[in-house]
Amino acid sequence: MNHRLENVAAFIAIAQRLFQSEKLPAGGREVAARVFERLRTPSDDGARHATRYPACERLDATLAPFMNDDTDFGAAARAIKSLEPDLGWSRRSSGVNGSDGYIDAHVHGMICGPGGAESRYDVQLGFSLMLPHTRYPDHSHPPEEAYVLFTPGEFRQNGGEWIDPGIGGGIHNVRNHPHAMRSGSVPFLAIWALLTRAGD
Ligand SMILES: [Fe+2]
Repeated sequence: MNHRLENVAAFIAIAQRLFQSEKLPAGGREVAARVFERLRTPSDDGARHATRYPACERLDATLAPFMNDDTDFGAAARAIKSLEPDLGWSRRSSGVNGSDGYIDAHVHGMICGPGGAESRYDVQLGFSLMLPHTRYPDHSHPPEEAYVLFTPGEFRQNGGEWIDPGIGGGIHNVRNHPHAMRSGSVPFLAIWALLTRAGD
């Protein structure tokens, strides 16, 4: 199917701008540019991972600080809220060093990608939400990815120091690069873009 929902198109346009910020590492901007190049062609096999998890109930509270914002963060938050019935939800339950209860304390929302509002397999575009004081497990995955932070939060790559790239900043993970993230005293929200290769 190559029909695209209007709110998916709106989110893609906003995210494309956010991922081109100079606050991102150059490699992150580059991988995101390749993701958005692929997203010029709508593609949807209709699969939907609609099962919700406990952290989904924190979506409104997490988006609330942005909803009236006259910025791309505000526009992205409003687009995410409008997409809520169509999102594909998932969460990680493997990996080491996750904080106690992290499984229920986080959730991922897929907008473009497997089981998402536009279900496809060549890219992933979506967001992660974590409750305060949550440490996501160390993990790695084949697709290369970039993140943009909407809130304070920290990332760690390859067992290095924890770094907070700042709001609107982000990180770049090359293929199979070990990484983790954690929230502080406020809910964590970040969007991500992943470039999938055949066989990933
Ligand atoms: Fe990751």
